[in-house]
Order: sequence, then structure tokens, then C-alpha cells
Amino acid sequence: MEKQRLDKIIASTGKFSRREVKSLVRQGLVLVDGRLAASPEEKVDPESAELVVQGEVLTYRRYTWVMLNKPAGYLSATEDGRGKTVLDLLPEELQRQNLFPVGRLDKDTEGLLLLTNEGGLAHDLLSPRHHVDKVYYTRVSGRLTEEDCQAFAAGMVLDDGLVCQSAGLEILSAGEESEAYVTLREGKFHQVKRMLAQRGKPVEYLERVQMGNLTLDSQLPRGSYRFLTDTEIQALRNL
Ligand code: URA
Repeated sequence: MEKQRLDKIIASTGKFSRREVKSLVRQGLVLVDGRLAASPEEKVDPESAELVVQGEVLTYRRYTWVMLNKPAGYLSATEDGRGKTVLDLLPEELQRQNLFPVGRLDKDTEGLLLLTNEGGLAHDLLSPRHHVDKVYYTRVSGRLTEEDCQAFAAGMVLDDGLVCQSAGLEILSAGEESEAYVTLREGKFHQVKRMLAQRGKPVEYLERVQMGNLTLDSQLPRGSYRFLTDTEIQALRNL
């Protein structure tokens, strides 16, 4: 791989800012292939050099994959003149890496959102051809029934003409308000809300809890992110 500046490589992990890297190098806390790094501007091949920062081996990844627990109030966009975007929830070093959200959640929808700079795989995950299930927890107004489940399973045609593929509806509780898991294999604009509105059970709350084989990390507070592990990234590739 092409050589890159040491400060850029180390900062790309999101653990240190470039300024911090500069100071670590000065303090002799950065080793390149077993010798002290000469300067933060030193150029090395990030894939073949062994980098040790503060005594820990640094794992370089060509692409960054992040799981965000999206709170309400943020747009799934990279920039927007009108309001806060999910990128505002990431540190500056990650914001510099051209990350973008893998698909969209509405501004008021919470939960699992992946961000990456690996365009190819992101595109595959979103393509309807690849049938990646997305699971949402929802609370609706009104009583969900077996007929609603059947309508979802049969594939709905919405009043505005939108044709929806067969979808899952698993009722968790039913009353004046009901709770359920909705499973979609596609992701059309406001799809969960539109399908449930058509059944006369408007969505009051929506949270994505799963995408493919990745579930929202229960240890991840709302508004926080973490890197995907190598195993998780590999599992996405295998989808
Ligand atoms: N369906 C919706 O209606 N909204 C979302 O944010 C995601 C799926």
C-alpha cells in the first residue's frame, strides 16, 4: 500500500488526534518496526509496518466501520444546512475520514446505524438483491392484530402505490398502544411508518435494533459509537 504520514495513520484509528500523535512521537511512545518513530511526518506503509503506540500494537484498517446508537434529532446525512447530522456525534478525527451512513434512519428514529468509508460493501448491504434484514422495534398507537401480521407477510400495496415486499410483524404486546418487531428486507422512504399508518396504527416510536447479523450493542449508550470488530466486518462481507 502507498506510504502515508504516521500522524495520519495513527489518527485514523480515531483513538488519538493528530496533535496527540505529535506529542506521543516526541515523548518516544511511538515505535515503527521496533525503532523509535523519527517524526509525525515520517511516511510508512500502514499495512506492512508494525506500529506500537504507548505499548500497544496498532491495528490498521484500510476502511473504517462504526456502529452508532443514533439518538432522535439527528439527520442521517453527511452534511445538512438545516440541522445536526449523525457525523456530529463522532470525534473530529473520524469526521475527517469521509464516513457516510449506510442507509438512512429518519430524524426521529433511534438505534443502529452503521457508518463507513467502504463504498462497495455499503452499497451491497443496501441493495435489495442482497436481502439484508433490518429489524425495528416499534410502539404504535392502536391494537396490533393477527390480520396486521398477515397483511405484512402478504406484501402490502400502499395507498400511494408503493409496493412492499413481504415483511415480518411480531407482536410483543397489544392494547391501546402496541409494541412489535418489524423486519424489512428493503428500505423505502419512511417504510415502517407508512406500512403501519396504512393499517391504522401510526408509529409513535421507532428504533432499529438489527441489521443483517449485527444487533445494536446493548452496552452502547444512545449517542455513542464504537468500531466494528474484525469478526463483525467479516460477517458483513459474508452476507
Ligand atoms: N422506516 C421508517 O419509517 N423510518 C425509518 O427511519 C426506518 C424505517
